[in-house]
Amino acid sequence: MKPNFWTTAACAAFALPAMAADVSYRADVAPLLKAQCAECHFAAAGAPTLQEFDLAKEKFTKDKTGPRLDTYETLVALIAYPDSGAFMRRLDDGTSQYAGGKPGNMYKYLGETDAERAKNLATLKAWLGQGGWNLNRWKARGDVPAVTKEQVDKLVLKY
Ligand code: HEC
Repeated sequence: MKPNFWTTAACAAFALPAMAADVSYRADVAPLLKAQCAECHFAAAGAPTLQEFDLAKEKFTKDKTGPRLDTYETLVALIAYPDSGAFMRRLDDGTSQYAGGKPGNMYKYLGETDAERAKNLATLKAWLGQGGWNLNRWKARGDVPAVTKEQVDKLVLKY
């Protein structure tokens, strides 16, 4: 195919993925989560803290609320500790190691179309930092080893 303006523009967009240094919680991640996740994960929707959620998972799941994701701190608890990797396991598109080829069950909420979901996932991955998107838990489970200090060290998570 002969390159035209659109294929050239598309290639340029893919050639320049968002870099962690450019992506911040305040400018990029908070607005994304507000648009895509607020109805079930923000305090205003009755979402519990992670600790409250863990005490009564079934009740909250029935009410269609998951743990709060409306502050930097509540988010980091689902990325780094104590619920290490939960954010990545739920939002992965199925291509990461240990995803088993299946997208996480929150992946569909990343957007209306494949393109929008891919773009938002790329933003979140860039925010975590190169090598920071790992599906491992704090403790090993089954064939999945525990997250390592080296993996945790990759997290950038700029505020
Ligand atoms: C329609 C409601 C709804 C939307 C929208 C939604 N979620 Fe969820 N989410 C839930 C419910 C309910 C649970 C708890 C049940 C479960 O684990 O699947 C949950 C669980 C989670 C968990 C696992 C928490 C844990 O401690 O195990 C993460 C992480 C998560 N959601 C992230 C997101 C993100 C990020 C978005 C936006 C892109 C989002 N969710 C959109 C309802 C929703």
